[in-house]
Amino acid sequence: MASKYITSLLALAATALSQTPSGFVPKADDWFPVTYDESANPKFFVNGGLFDKSSVQSTPSVYIPDTPSFTGQTFIVLMVDPDAPSPSNNSLGQILHWMQPGVKIPLNTQKVKSPEGKDLLKLDTTSTNAIVPYRGPAPPSQDPHHYIFLLFLQPENTFSLPTEFEKYQGGNDRRRFSAEKFVAAAGLKDPVLGTYFLSGKNTVGDGSQGIQDFSGGNNGDKTKNGTVTSSETGPGATGAPGTPTNNNGTVTFPTPTPTQTKNDAGAMRSSSFGLIGVLAFAILVLS
Ligand SMILES: *[C@@H]1O[C@H](CO)[C@@H](O)[C@H](O)[C@H]1NC(C)=O
Ligand SMILES: *[C@@H]1O[C@H](CO)[C@@H](O)[C@H](O)[C@H]1NC(C)=O
Ligand SMILES: *[C@@H]1O[C@H](CO)[C@@H](O)[C@H](O)[C@H]1NC(C)=O
Repeated sequence: MASKYITSLLALAATALSQTPSGFVPKADDWFPVTYDESANPKFFVNGGLFDKSSVQSTPSVYIPDTPSFTGQTFIVLMVDPDAPSPSNNSLGQILHWMQPGVKIPLNTQKVKSPEGKDLLKLDTTSTNAIVPYRGPAPPSQDPHHYIFLLFLQPENTFSLPTEFEKYQGGNDRRRFSAEKFVAAAGLKDPVLGTYFLSGKNTVGDGSQGIQDFSGGNNGDKTKNGTVTSSETGPGATGAPGTPTNNNGTVTFPTPTPTQTKNDAGAMRSSSFGLIGVLAFAILVLS
């Protein structure tokens, strides 16, 4: 009983700290600094930040924290959209938006500061051919899709697609990908870093803010904030407005909490301290 309780608290703590949307596998616990801002001091979008799709059409720049464990490593970048054609009907998902192996820290790399003032190193995503070149979001649904970035350590010097994934080579067919199956087939470990943003057909945003009360399955009344015009139901929208669609947990949507969406070091830390406190208390009381 007590151990069950502690286990679920641990699960809760893990979820709260995840950088990937809750329920998404594989999950990443550490933040992947990705940006569409090519300026010298780029702004990074927050986890779950909302974008208009025109802002996210060109290949983003990816960074890693300047830590010894990443020195000399080669990485694979993956980007997927699990919400195609819409969050409430993901029968075409995941869409594979980008698969780039052979990513390295170049000599004399650009060093920038994270929002918390930590050193970040820009990775070179252009020195080897992409297996699947970057393609920007074109969500047909009003409901924002999740665009999830994962960074993996590449185990060997060269990387080739597992046989059952060869049809993705070149990116002509990007549908029904599974990051989870790909990781297993390619013999990769869990992603070392992850992040995601949101974008829908008519969403407006620069990635600096997430949205509250975001949950899948309902076409109307999604965002209380006017960021999504819920009255518009374009041809790509699925489900009649106001018709509740199935949202029984097959697609899980995080409700971005301030700590998750802000990606603010202090807030993250205090939330994890909070959870650790609760855990410690539970262990004290129950043991
Ligand atoms: C889900 O989307 C697919 C692909 O667009 C479509 O063929 C199918 O009819 C949709 N299912 C429902 C229940 O809307
Ligand atoms: C709505 O979004 C704006 C910026 O997009 C933000 O300043 C404001 O606080 C939000 N309001 C609510 C109620 O979430
Ligand atoms: C959840 O919904 C999916 C389709 O969206 C369906 O296949 C599945 O059986 C449902 N599961 C439950 C427990 O209702």
